[in-house]
Parts: sequence; C-alpha cells; structure tokens
Amino acid sequence: MKVKIAPSLLAADFARLADALRMAEEAGADLVHVDVMDGRFVPNLTIGPPVVSALRKATRLPLDVHLMIESPETALVRYLEAGADWISVHVEATRHLHRCLDAIRRGGARAGAVINPGTPTGALDAAAGDIDYAVVMSVNPGAGGQTFIPSSIAKVGRLAREAAASGHRFEIEVDGGVDAGNAGALCAAGAEILVAGTSVYGEADPRTAVARLRQAAAEGVRA
Ligand code: DX5
Ligand code: ZN
Repeated sequence: MKVKIAPSLLAADFARLADALRMAEEAGADLVHVDVMDGRFVPNLTIGPPVVSALRKATRLPLDVHLMIESPETALVRYLEAGADWISVHVEATRHLHRCLDAIRRGGARAGAVINPGTPTGALDAAAGDIDYAVVMSVNPGAGGQTFIPSSIAKVGRLAREAAASGHRFEIEVDGGVDAGNAGALCAAGAEILVAGTSVYGEADPRTAVARLRQAAAEGVRA
C-alpha cells in the first residue's frame, strides 16, 4: 500500500498558487489539498469555486477539496463544476450527509466525510458504505500551522478497525499538523492519505519535505 501525500495549499503563498502547484508536482505529491472555508462553519474565509476552477486548469494533480462550510449540500455542485476530483464534507456541517455524499459521487468525484477532533468515529457509521475516504481532523479546522492532537493516532486506529469489522472499504485521510514526526505512527495506525501544509510549504524545499514525509509514512506502513 502506497500512502498518498497531499500538500495543503493553505500553507502556500496565495499570491503564487501556480508556483505551489508546480512544487507539489515536482515533489511527487499524489493530490493537492484545497481548504475551502466560509466564515461560518469556521471563522476564516479562503477560496471558492472560481479559484478551484483556476487551479484545475493549472495542474494535472487531482484536487482534494475540503469543504469547511455550513450546509454544503447547497454549494457542492459548484465545486463539482469547478473540477474538484475529491470532495469532503464535515458530518457536523450538514443534516443531509447521505444526500451530499450521493451528489458528490453522482457528479463523478470521490466522496469524503470529515470528523472534527471532538466528533467520535461512530459519526461515520451510517455513511461507511457511501464514502471513498474518511478524514480525521487532527487539529480543529479553520487554520493551518496548528499543533497536532496526539490522540488522533488512536482515533485513526479505531476507525480502521471499525471499517474492517464492518466490511466497508474506504481510505483514511488525516488533516492537521501532520509532519515527518507523526506520519509513521499515523500510517501504522491505518492512515493512507496524509495532508501536510506547514510541513511542506513551510519548509525551504517542499520537495525534500515531501520525500521525508513519504519515507516516514513507508516506515510506518512496514511497522
Ligand atoms: C485546517 C485545514 C488543514 C490545514 C493543514 O483547517 O483543514 O488542511 O491546511 O495545515 P497544517 O499541515 O499546517 O496543519
Ligand atoms: Zn483541510
């Protein structure tokens, strides 16, 4: 199993997004993580469909769009139209999780459900058959550069065991404070996609940073 590395543009220079995409490509990233915030589900505001559409035209890498927005059922079609390849919605943000996941898949994208640090893995039970990936937030959503919450490692392990026991197959993505110091333990616990903002774009050479993450992840998988 090869762990996917998804650099998060939130930690890149927003005035130079094309350069950030090129760096991700050169670094051999598997996905590009795009953080959409609406100023309501989280206090911050970032980018919307027009920027996702521009990113789509500027890279061959799949775009993993993380919707930190209230009631995503009304807006997610715009992200499908903008060319998002993967779209995740927060279970805390919608009363219509199944409807959202169904719309994402019918729109041709991979569907993900995200849980906040305070949300138990059981919140994903009913959706387990409808997702391509589950996202475990390892910081509270809303900003890059926060400290990794260590209990996220056990949470990933719990989710992986629950998925195996239920017979459902989906990838587990971890988002927030991921670096070469925790990547191994996360992958040993069952993470298959690592989102990394600060630990990639905050480094002098993002290529070396991705290589370091990949090595730590591979060691974790072997453990
Ligand atoms: C937090 C975002 C994360 C963030 C990760 O709300 O969802 O994707 O960009 O950035 P780092 O790796 O800096 O925690
Ligand atoms: Zn994110």
